[in-house]
Amino acid sequence: MGDYIFNQNHLLGIDHLSDKDIDTILETAESFVEISTRDVKKVPALKGKTVVNLFFENSTRTRSSFEIAAKRLSADLINFNSSVSSLKKGESLRDTVLTLEAMNPNIIVIRHSASGSPHYLTTFARSSIVNAGDGFHEHPTQALLDALTMKQVFKTIRGLKVAIVGDILHSRVARSNIILHRKMGNEVSIIGPPSLVPREFEKMGAKVHHNIEEGVKNSDVVMMLRVQSERGAGNYFPSIREYRKHFAINKKVFAMAKKSAIIMHPGPINRDVEIDNTLADSDKSFILQQVTNGIAVRMAVLYLLKGDFNEPIN
Ligand code: CP
Repeated sequence: MGDYIFNQNHLLGIDHLSDKDIDTILETAESFVEISTRDVKKVPALKGKTVVNLFFENSTRTRSSFEIAAKRLSADLINFNSSVSSLKKGESLRDTVLTLEAMNPNIIVIRHSASGSPHYLTTFARSSIVNAGDGFHEHPTQALLDALTMKQVFKTIRGLKVAIVGDILHSRVARSNIILHRKMGNEVSIIGPPSLVPREFEKMGAKVHHNIEEGVKNSDVVMMLRVQSERGAGNYFPSIREYRKHFAINKKVFAMAKKSAIIMHPGPINRDVEIDNTLADSDKSFILQQVTNGIAVRMAVLYLLKGDFNEPIN
């Protein structure tokens, strides 16, 4: 493991990891996959540790898989619900975190609409901080579980061509995936309308395409992204019908990828918007395997961080 996780004791983004760190996390996750297939899905690795799930944005997959991951490692878990918390009485994020830290947790997992909020927590919190998605910035455990899924299919996470299609502008999943695959030396194509896939992203080493058939050509992986209406993405193209016509994946478009190619999607999916209903449920779709892998990857991240470096509160 590289310096970042061990010295800083946080997972804030893929940007801070080396390719060797990524290998270590994936190898650790691979060793945890089997635990979830046992009758008794529990190991004592984090017995006595406490994990706080601090989610300020909606989540189905990330929140529940961090919860299951913590429980399978025998950690105690607090699920913080912002809608029924004292935030509603005006308590600040800082005071909320300091209050929770007074209960001596080891790891705080945070999802927040503000980019950089996990970094902000590291400036005053003693717990290990894990970024579970911050604004448009990063969603590192999503990119890691995507990488684990690719590794299971292709037996390697290097030498791949990855096409990412959709609302790149608003997507922390796209950002973390672009960074991860460029670190692993993979070719990354990003595809969508110019308003959602600006040329700016070429600075990250991705190739920009505005034609989906050209962009997915010879790809190993076609990763579809949701149109994020809640972040105003619907204002960036004329209509959903128009978007679907040009940027949805269907059998004809998918035929441009390699024969061995797979379809991925971080979810939640908009059926018959960005992905053809039948393709979403086909044997080329690894969407549910991604969800399953979220548990092993999050177990690996919690296990590697441990939160052991904290001074106890006096
Ligand atoms: N992929 C993902 O982050 O899904 P959730 O928003 O359901 O956690």
